[in-house]
Amino acid sequence: MSAVRAVAHANIALVKYWGKRDAALMLPSASSVSLTLDAFYTTTSVGLHEGDADEVSLDGAPLTGGALVKVERFLDLVRSQAAPGVAGRRARVASRNDVPTAAGLASSASAFAALAGAAAGAYGVALDRAGLSRLARRGSGSASRSVYGGFVQWRAAAELPPAEADLASVAEPLPSSPDLDVAMAVVVLAAGPKAIGSREAMAHTVATSPYFPAWAEHTERDAAAACEAIAAGDLERLGEITETSAMRMHATMLAAAPPVRYLAPASLEVLDAVAALRAAGTGAWATMDAGPNVKVLCAASDLEAVVAALADGGRRTVLRARPGPGLRVERE
Ligand code: ADP
Ligand code: DP6
Ligand code: CO
Repeated sequence: MSAVRAVAHANIALVKYWGKRDAALMLPSASSVSLTLDAFYTTTSVGLHEGDADEVSLDGAPLTGGALVKVERFLDLVRSQAAPGVAGRRARVASRNDVPTAAGLASSASAFAALAGAAAGAYGVALDRAGLSRLARRGSGSASRSVYGGFVQWRAAAELPPAEADLASVAEPLPSSPDLDVAMAVVVLAAGPKAIGSREAMAHTVATSPYFPAWAEHTERDAAAACEAIAAGDLERLGEITETSAMRMHATMLAAAPPVRYLAPASLEVLDAVAALRAAGTGAWATMDAGPNVKVLCAASDLEAVVAALADGGRRTVLRARPGPGLRVERE
């Protein structure tokens, strides 16, 4: 069977996913809402070979340790759904990140969405978009959303028991008003890997933060409100929900014991600069993930002004992003 190549773009959550209710099935405690971006993506090709081990490379170097184990387990999941003739075959996986790896810029989202598409294709597992989203979720929760372009919601299906939520907890593209023409300015303060990965930090927050139940409850409501704002084309409302969700997520992890802190002094300076933009009448709202970098949501027509203000005369690196496409899969 020939190799299959897939491209998936990273997504940035506007309403954050931070906490699992079932770690094995990768079920989130609450729904989340995101924007897939054009500027950051992963390209992954998967072929089957005759060897007795999976071979996985990232940016030309062999993947090792925990990162390799995550890919192998994911491939085992795909193989468990494959026809007997191919289910025993090992894979050769070559991935390239056009996104900084493990820097809080959602590399795990683009990575596992691309791997889901390429591995399902290589092993002949026929899946529709919802099936690919469900599969990608098992690699990294945020990857469920990168199957789709633009605005996306990932449903928690928290009202269902885990075995049923396993089927229902998938992402779906959100209907958005044509008036909602958005962009993101991405302030890159550190492109290196974070000290503690999202998965571990999230589990630690669930286990030790007394704020966690309140966070999960409010997030479910925020996700519903964000969907309404997106449908109505209300950027101001969406921006307010976005910044509030990010700050609440960081507050929740700051209350873990010991605390988890991704906010850096330079991040706080950018948050101040975003508040100053708003005070001066430009619609701009900040969000941050598991890392110090700050992403700023704004109207596409305001992007250049926002980038110029945040770059501060070249003192900061600011990248431009616009809504990006969903997962693409092609046979090589
Ligand atoms: P991020 O903020 O970049 O999503 P995470 O801590 O969530 O950070 O995930 C980073 C991890 O995702 C890496 O340590 C690695 O295990 C995995 N990863 C990232 N890119 C790839 C890739 N292209 N192929 C396989 N695994 C990847
Ligand atoms: C802060 O999807 O990277 O970016 O599911 O354990 O792989 P795992 O974690 P991951 O967590 C993303 C956390 C976040 C918020 C978000 O993307 O919603
Ligand atoms: Co991630």
